Amino acid sequence: MEKYLKKIENHISFHMPGHKGREVFDSNMQDITKWDITEIPGADNLQDPEGIIKAIEDRYGAYYESTRSFIMVNGSTGGILSMIMAATKPGDTVIVDSNCHKSVINGLMLGRLNPIFVNADTDTNGIPMSVNVDKIIDIISSRDDIKAVIITSPNYFGYVSNISKLKKAILNRDIVVMVDEAHGSHLRLSCKLPDDSIEMGADIVVHSIHKTLLGLTQTAALHVNSYKIDIEKIKHFLYCFQTSSPSYILMASLEKSIDIVEKKGEDLMEKLLFNIDEFFNDCNEYLSIVKVLDYRNLKNYDNTKLILDIANLDISTSQFLDILAKDYSIEVEMTMGEYILLMTSINSEKKDFDELLRALMDIEKIYGVKNHKKENLIDYAFKLNQKVNPWTAFYMEKEDIKLKDSVGRISGSSIVPYPPGIPVISVGQEITKDVVSFIIKNRNSFNQIIGLKDEEIKVLKGC
Ligand SMILES: Cc1ncc(COP(=O)(O)O)c(C=O)c1O
Repeated sequence: MEKYLKKIENHISFHMPGHKGREVFDSNMQDITKWDITEIPGADNLQDPEGIIKAIEDRYGAYYESTRSFIMVNGSTGGILSMIMAATKPGDTVIVDSNCHKSVINGLMLGRLNPIFVNADTDTNGIPMSVNVDKIIDIISSRDDIKAVIITSPNYFGYVSNISKLKKAILNRDIVVMVDEAHGSHLRLSCKLPDDSIEMGADIVVHSIHKTLLGLTQTAALHVNSYKIDIEKIKHFLYCFQTSSPSYILMASLEKSIDIVEKKGEDLMEKLLFNIDEFFNDCNEYLSIVKVLDYRNLKNYDNTKLILDIANLDISTSQFLDILAKDYSIEVEMTMGEYILLMTSINSEKKDFDELLRALMDIEKIYGVKNHKKENLIDYAFKLNQKVNPWTAFYMEKEDIKLKDSVGRISGSSIVPYPPGIPVISVGQEITKDVVSFIIKNRNSFNQIIGLKDEEIKVLKGC
């Protein structure tokens, strides 16, 4: 692995982590092992912090104006599992945004919950939008057994959900609103970006600091934002889902990230948004085939995400990625058909955008226009029909059958295209024609599809 990492260490990153491979620590560290310690005197303890770790948590709490913030070293994954387990009881019925990460599905299973999935609509480009809050409000108004709502905002593609509207509508109900804001820890850095979910009143929120700010990979934060959440339960589950030997290097990077955010985060974000505007201007001026989807007039979109549309370029997506990587040392976050998702951050520099523009101009010149019909609408917004609750389904007998023969059966595992790690179908759900055609059509658009092996899928036996 060292050989591989050395080879790519100077590439231009339009993917996570948010530090973009640029220096995070002040010290010019030759040997990171010097900081790799354990809980020696003075080092505090993540499981019950009182000293230097608690001081970092307090800085996060003050910045995000939470009741209590926790830092984490097992990504948002550990935080999502902890918040779901702490805020629900086995058997509870919860509403879930279907555009969720697989950790939410795992949380539903571990918590023995009964989910009602609400799917997001797609926009005119075929990109999944924020969850339809009106649908959630309608379900809540017609039932009295809903204990929690779990929303992913921003979603992987940049759309932010209207948590304020939901909170207002359920003011008098004892319902916890949890938000997986793995992709939104940077939103507070500019009033030109949408409000974050803490500002919008969510009860509990999880951030991947490594995705859109400057912490090293795996760093995250969990923010408790209301009296409805039992802090002791949160602590308990954070111990369950995280190592008892947290890395001090990761925790130090969390401190560095909040330090930079507090001192110059807003200026850096202003610069980033300016560079993004310039990039749009340059693309309009110099490109005629590749498009950048322009959502800058939307109030509920995180414009630090960029989506390129290469449908009209006479080149396949995998060829395009190969050329970007080999000839320009540019790596992207992910592809969806002929869309390319790029993630930028306050550590992105003007020269990154310039190099990307140069690459796109060259590629346009060499490959030119494709003459066949655009075919890149990816409808990721399926109707998910939970037939057997995830916990029960997990322990039922399963069999492997061909994907093409699976319509109407009940899934025995999650099928998760990677990235983004959003299951297209999860354990206990009915396998519909839409899901099967989506997987077959987009089989080669994702790096990997976890849960699909030799074109076979696991289904519940006898169902
Ligand atoms: C929406 C969303 N939530 C949660 C996660 C999990 O975050 P982490 O990798 O920090 O565990 C991801 C990871 O990609 C994600 O995209």
